[in-house]
Amino acid sequence: MEHQLIVVGIGPGSPEYLLPVARQVIDKARVIVGSKQSLQAFAHDGSEQRVIGGDLPNLFQYIDDKLFTSDVVVMVSGDPGFYSLLAALKKQFPQKFIKVIPGISSFQLAFAAIGEYWQDAVVTSMHGRMASDQDLAYKSGKKLATLTDSQNNPPHIARQLLSLGWPGETKVWLCANLARPDEKIRLLTLGETADIAGFSYCVMVVIG
Ligand SMILES: C[S@@+](CC[C@H](N)C(=O)[O-])C[C@H]1O[C@@H](n2cnc3c(N)ncnc32)[C@H](O)[C@@H]1O
Repeated sequence: MEHQLIVVGIGPGSPEYLLPVARQVIDKARVIVGSKQSLQAFAHDGSEQRVIGGDLPNLFQYIDDKLFTSDVVVMVSGDPGFYSLLAALKKQFPQKFIKVIPGISSFQLAFAAIGEYWQDAVVTSMHGRMASDQDLAYKSGKKLATLTDSQNNPPHIARQLLSLGWPGETKVWLCANLARPDEKIRLLTLGETADIAGFSYCVMVVIG
C-alpha cells in the first residue's frame, strides 16, 4: 500500500456547506467511495466510484486493492471525527496512510440553527447505538444533544429521558434534514416529543 486514504467530511451534503479544501480533494479523486447520494452530488464522471454498502469487509478489501495504484477518497457525512466510518477505517488501515479532511457536523448545524452554543453540551449519538447512562442522566440545566435514527427516534428517546427523571416540560429541539430543502426544525416539550410522529434521523437537543 503506497497511497493515501483520504477521509473527507462532506457536511450535510449540500454544496454550500462543503469546505473548499474538501471540494478540491473530491475533484482530484481518481477513486472515490461514498453513499449513493454523495457520489451523485459530488463525484466527477472521470472517477472510479464505489458505493458504501452493508458489506464492510468487502469495501475494505476494495480500498486495500486500490491503494496499491491510487489514492482513495472516502466521503462521509458531517465531520469524519464524529460517528463516521473513520473509526472502522482506523482499525483496518495503518494511521500513516490516513488523512482526514474535516466537515461541518450535523450537531454544529443544529446548534447554529437554534442559535445556541454547545461548549457546555453533552454531545452523543444514539444512531445505531446506546448512549451511556451518564450521558442521559438528568441534571438541572444540562444540555444534551444526540443523533437519532429510525429506532432510537425522538419519541423513543423522550420516553427514556422521562423515565430517567427529566421533567415533562423540558425544552426539546428536533432538527431534521438540516441544510437541505426539506429542513424541519421544531421546538417542543419532552412530554410532547414522547408522542411526536414524523422524526427519525435528526439531531435532538434537550435543554434541562
Ligand atoms: C452516522 S451519523 C453521522 C454523523 C456525522 N459524522 C456528523 O458529523 O454529523 C448519522 C446521523 O447524523 C445525523 N444527521 C446527519 N445529517 C443530518 C442532517 N442533515 N440533519 C439532521 N441530522 C443529520 C442524524 O442523526 C443521522 O442519523
